[in-house]
Amino acid sequence: MIRINPHYQKLQASYLFADIAQRVRAFQQRRPDAGLIRLGIGDVTEPLPPACVAALHAAVDELAQADTFRGYGPEQGYDFLREAIARHDFQARGAQIDADEVFVSDGAKCDVGNIQEIFATDIRVAIPDPVYPVYVDTNVMAGRTGAAVQGRYQGLVYLPCTAANGYVPQLPDQPVDLIYLCSPNNPTGATMTRAQLQAWVDWARAAKALILFDAAYEAFIRDDGLPHSIYEIPGAREVAIEMRSYSKTAGFTGLRCAYTVVPRDCMAWCDTGEPVALHGLWTRRHTTKFNGVSYPVQRAAEAVYSPEGRQQTRALTDGYLRNAQAIRAGFQALGLPCTGGDNSPYIWVDTGRDAWAFFDLLLDKAAVVCTPGAGFGRCGQRHVRISAFNSQANVEAAMQRIARALA
Ligand code: MLT
Repeated sequence: MIRINPHYQKLQASYLFADIAQRVRAFQQRRPDAGLIRLGIGDVTEPLPPACVAALHAAVDELAQADTFRGYGPEQGYDFLREAIARHDFQARGAQIDADEVFVSDGAKCDVGNIQEIFATDIRVAIPDPVYPVYVDTNVMAGRTGAAVQGRYQGLVYLPCTAANGYVPQLPDQPVDLIYLCSPNNPTGATMTRAQLQAWVDWARAAKALILFDAAYEAFIRDDGLPHSIYEIPGAREVAIEMRSYSKTAGFTGLRCAYTVVPRDCMAWCDTGEPVALHGLWTRRHTTKFNGVSYPVQRAAEAVYSPEGRQQTRALTDGYLRNAQAIRAGFQALGLPCTGGDNSPYIWVDTGRDAWAFFDLLLDKAAVVCTPGAGFGRCGQRHVRISAFNSQANVEAAMQRIARALA
């Protein structure tokens, strides 16, 4: 008799965004002419940068010719992309990351979900609350938690992120082996300062713990004082793995390209207490289970670093940030406290009422989709997340409708 992985039965209902999609589908069936505007899931709406499109076309042409055709590429990514990443995203900021520490993949979500399989099942995992649900659910699937009780899984250490702490997780007051940090944060839009990240790095070194640093929204940082990478922090190479993505940086949500950095100094420990380099383990996992990102897509990612690509992706993210500021100003004018939106495409709104009730209100009265904060954790029960990923015209229309709906 084939039996299922019993840990899947602990998972709460459906994945958050699938749940929302179902409610939105039902609304569209009821009101097909409502002119729905989606500020829910963080999916980009603007076309690819022309530099990336040109690189894609050229790479497809190469594959069409016998003398330039390529088959399987290296699982970890082509050198041309790994070198561009190391140089532009890290070394240019004073972070010592080498090309062979970069693992190119098809998504930060996949990487952040998969990486936990190289750790023991009985490690203690800390999760900020609210949090991107993938961090939690993949640990549930792997059997690192007990059952969910009132929306929280037994065995996980939850670090509340509230207005009182600026939505930044505080160091744990109990033993923890693995912590997920995300800055600029999904869902709150809060960013971590250099001093805050340094405190986490120092803690991880003392605790022999590991930080999984999700920097998928790094391209939205405009404040020069904020770190873009955890490797800008002294000591981080030994205790941090960082994930990045081209999805939001360059509109690649449909194209798929991201990467994970595993420095060679980054260690975990085996049962005998011997240190083991995570670089080797991740190489083993990646080469066994992944075939690499397609050649044209890696060429498109490389084009992000060309002079035109840099200018075009900056214009893209600037546009979304203008939306974010309009959204934040709109909610603040309605008297609802907000965070995020300055160095982030997400705005976290304290609605002062039940998150799903507010979601339904915006859907029914304004035909606007947001994301109920309750889906990101108990601390989000009164909040919604508004995404700035849409056209300027749609964001303006949405904010006018929301103002009328809440008047
Ligand atoms: C989100 O809306 O949180 C993101 O789109 C999720 C993701 O990038 O996977």
